[in-house]
Formats: sequence, C-alpha cells, structure tokens
Amino acid sequence: MKKAFIKSYGCQMNVYDSGRMADVMAAEGYGEATTPEEADLVILNTCHIRERAAEKVYSELGRLNVMKRERAAEGRETRVVVAGCVAQAEGREIVRRAPVVDAVVGPGGYHRLPALLREAETRPGAVDAEFDQVEKFAALPRPSPERIRRGVSAFLTVQEGCDKFCAFCVVPYTRGAEMSRPVAALLEEARGLLASGVRELTLIGQNVNAYHGEGPDGRAWSLARLLEALAGLPGVARLRYTTSHPLDMTDDLLAAHAAIPALMPYLHLPVQAGSDRILKAMNRRHDAATYRRLIDRIRAARPDMALSSDFIVGFPGETEADFEATMQLVRDVGFAASFSFKYSPRPGTPAADAAGQVPAAVMDARLQVLQAQLEIDRQRHMRAMVGRTTSVLIERAGRHPGQLTGKTPYLHQVQATGLAAAIGDVVAVRVTETAPNSLFAEAVLAGGDAGREAA
Ligand code: 5AD
Ligand code: SF4
Repeated sequence: MKKAFIKSYGCQMNVYDSGRMADVMAAEGYGEATTPEEADLVILNTCHIRERAAEKVYSELGRLNVMKRERAAEGRETRVVVAGCVAQAEGREIVRRAPVVDAVVGPGGYHRLPALLREAETRPGAVDAEFDQVEKFAALPRPSPERIRRGVSAFLTVQEGCDKFCAFCVVPYTRGAEMSRPVAALLEEARGLLASGVRELTLIGQNVNAYHGEGPDGRAWSLARLLEALAGLPGVARLRYTTSHPLDMTDDLLAAHAAIPALMPYLHLPVQAGSDRILKAMNRRHDAATYRRLIDRIRAARPDMALSSDFIVGFPGETEADFEATMQLVRDVGFAASFSFKYSPRPGTPAADAAGQVPAAVMDARLQVLQAQLEIDRQRHMRAMVGRTTSVLIERAGRHPGQLTGKTPYLHQVQATGLAAAIGDVVAVRVTETAPNSLFAEAVLAGGDAGREAA
C-alpha cells in the first residue's frame, strides 16, 4: 500500500485541513506514514503568516530533494506536494525555486488533489490555486474522526477566509473571502465526532465569530445560534471557538457566553496593539477604548472569563509611546495567555511598504519587554487557580501511576491524582500546585460531592 506523510505548519486550520487531505488520499488508496522516509507522497501544509514560517518550507524542501534523489537512484519514486497558504501565495514560484515539487495546491483546492497528482504525472509542477471553498467542503469525503481529533477534543472548521484586511495580514489573500459552512453540514460533522468519543469541539475559522452560515430555516445563523445548536447535541461537554475579531463580538455572542454552560469561559480575542494610532494604521477598525469596554462587557456576561490575545510589536511607525500604550493595555486587561510576534512584512499587504519600518533591534527589545509582562500575567492566572475547584476534561493517563491528565476550562494542562474517572469524563478537581506549564490537582472528596460536574 502506498503511504502519504502530511506535515502541518502554522495554525489549527492547517491541522484540520491536513486531516481532510489524509481522507482524500485514503480514498485513493494511500495509508498514513509517520515519517517522510516511509512515504511515497509527502505533503507540506504550509503557513505564510510570517516570513520565518514561509521560509521553513524551503529548508524542508531542500531535505526532501536529497531524499527524493537518493530514492530515485534506488528506483523508488517520491512525490512532493506543497499545500496551504504558501502554495496559495507563491504558486508557480515554488516550483521554480524548488523543482523537487511535483504539485502545488492552495487551500481552496484540496478536493482536487487526486486530479492534480494525476496531472502532475505528465506535467510535473502542476499548480492549483483556485478559490472554491463552497465546492471544496461539498466535495471532500466525510471527515474521519480519527484524523481530525486530538483524543477527546476535535477541531471543526465552521468558517474560512477573512474580509477584514488588517494591513499586516496575508490571510485575506491566501484564504480568500469569508465563507461560512451551512449549519446542517456542521451538525452532521459534529455528530460523527461525538459518536466516536469526542467530548470537546473547538470551532475554528480565521474570523470565526463572523460566522453567518445558512441555517435549516434558510436564514443566516450567527455563531451564537450555531453554538446553541451544538450545545444541544448529546455527548457535548465543552465548546470553544477561535479566532475572533473584536468587531464581531455581537450581543448575542456575549449572551451565549452567559447562557451556554458548555461554552468555556476562555476567549482568544486578538487586539494586536494598544495604541489608537497603530490600530488605525493596522486597519483594525476599533480603538483601544472600544476593546477595553468590550472586555468589561464580556466579563460582565461571564465573570470567570479569561482572555488571551495576539500582539504585534514593531508595526511600521510604532514609536516608544505607541509601544507603551500596548504595555498599558496588557497591564490593564491581564491576559491569561498570549502570542506575540515581531512585525514581519508580507509581500502584497499594504503595510509591507509603509514608511517607518522599525529596526530589528528595536523590535527585539520591545518583544522581550512585552513577553516578560505576558509571562508574569500568565503565571498570575495560573497561581490564582491554586486552592480552587475547577473542572478537568480527562485526556489520558498521567505521567505517574495513579495520575490522569486533562485540561481545565482555561486550557491549563492538569496532572490529577485520586480520581476514579475515565478518559472523556469531566471531573471536579482541586488545584494544589502550579508548575511553569501545568497544574497539579487532586480529587474533590468533600461531603456528598461525587467529584463530577458538567464543564
Ligand atoms: N507579522 C507579524 N505577525 C503577524 N500576524 C499576522 N500577520 C503578521 C505579520 N505580518 C500575527 C497576528 C495574528 C496572528 C495569527 O499572527 O498577531 O493575530
Ligand atoms: Fe488577518 Fe485576522 Fe485581520 Fe483577518 S482579522 S486580516 S485573519 S489578522
């Protein structure tokens, strides 16, 4: 049997897509390889968000080139496909730079992968960079739960693409315009996942809270309505969604956080920067005060809500004062976890040739200051868990005998002892201690408490 090896770079959407591509190739008779060495087909599912991510692909292609040649000398064929956002952004340029590549396919064309590979047999270097998300989801084989779940937790792509056009971001170009999958298809996919033991669904999309898919009633459903419908499916313990734009945090979504117990009180809501001038230059279409007010409203709806964000330092034109405004926002909000990046000019985006590019050394220094503060806040949030009773979704056996490990509502990894629980259970624990990247906890045994609760 032939085997395919698929390597994912970048975001969760790629992880999900890799699962769907594995299904497409399984229908063509390909098994899954765990290393490139044992594969007949290697697919790199790439990320274009920052320069470093995109460059990783070319170093991997260099290694694959050596492997392909060695194998060719032994009479064995290796086919190499570049998929994902670099494929979409660079297309034919990839084949020019790396002739080892047999085919290039953008995120809109995964359902056409087998046809493209057949085409590449006679025309190596075939490229498919058509956008056709609607057709894609209709044509892809039913997702197999094994491939798109991580144990008890699974991703569900509900939305793809973005119409926001932040000035630094390639996503609107590589993933195309915003499109939402119909509710019925999502409920069906969710049922399949839940039937196979999944307890937690993370709805994913580049701009997931802009979701407006067609409901069974023929009308556009909001993310809040979709969440409500998913929460009603048997077997759902936890729901999450990511990534969101502040402008699309609608009233009904805030209300959903108050009303749906399965919806976890943890929200990734990137702000990127805290200076109004920079937010404007970034085309974020909100200011820092609006973001702060939004956070207050979210916390009013769900007092135990924790927040995480993405930040960019060194956006063109960023002064010390602008950076200080970001630091002030960070100190004011107190994020539970965050991702932060140096600005990376991306070809084709408006900011790439804006005036006032910030020197690398300045970006380095600012990133260090920001990350030190974000780490303090992350640790503070973890320490605040100590002594508290929280729920854990059990994922697997823990590091030591008698331990089980799983996640809190805030995605902390927990090592818990004394539990009589099975994988997939949601149980109450009392947090006893923190380690740099995880928590320790024990069963809650107090009078009459069975140690189980809904998430
Ligand atoms: N440079 C640096 N960071 C970027 N991001 C997106 N584009 C860029 C860029 N050109 C970051 C943003 C976004 C996250 C996924 O990646 O913070 O939220
Ligand atoms: Fe990129 Fe997100 Fe802005 Fe869309 S909203 S352009 S995906 S950063």
